[in-house]
Amino acid sequence: MLPVGVLMVEHRVIERMIKLWENELNRINATGKANSSFLGQAVDFMRTYADHFHHGKEENMLFALLRQKPLTGGLASMLDGLAEEHTVSRRTVAALAAANRDYAAGAEDALAAIRESISAIIRLYPAHIRKEDKQFFLPVMEFLTDMEKEKMLADFRAFEPSTHDTYKSMVFVMEQK
Ligand SMILES: [Fe+2]
Ligand SMILES: [Fe+2]
Repeated sequence: MLPVGVLMVEHRVIERMIKLWENELNRINATGKANSSFLGQAVDFMRTYADHFHHGKEENMLFALLRQKPLTGGLASMLDGLAEEHTVSRRTVAALAAANRDYAAGAEDALAAIRESISAIIRLYPAHIRKEDKQFFLPVMEFLTDMEKEKMLADFRAFEPSTHDTYKSMVFVMEQK
């Protein structure tokens, strides 16, 4: 298995969460109310699983090594673009968390900011994942030696293995509601 195989497996879990975000946005549009407890859990997923656990491996292990390589074919600028999208998603999730805090405290006008942030997440993530899966991950593997690939796969697998199981189960439970 290539190290990016691990990241692709994680993308499938993130996609399931994005589906739940879409459902929540539809619910908000239909009822005029947000579910603060769903939003709290979903923000925790985005911070812990998507950002710390998944983006953490991408940025600190994969992207960091690739920045030392003579990337060609637009891959270097694609790397910068992907890292920038991580920054945007971090900012969007922070805005959503703040809006949800206000909303849970009774500020109904925070609903507009909640809708805006969820829409931004839904716009950003599927395209980001598609770019990584279809245009970036496999071409960049050509720039790694076999030893680098083996080490990265081992490092990926060793990085907080329980986080994957915990958050995959959390998504499953949230899907049943
Ligand atoms: Fe990414
Ligand atoms: Fe990713």
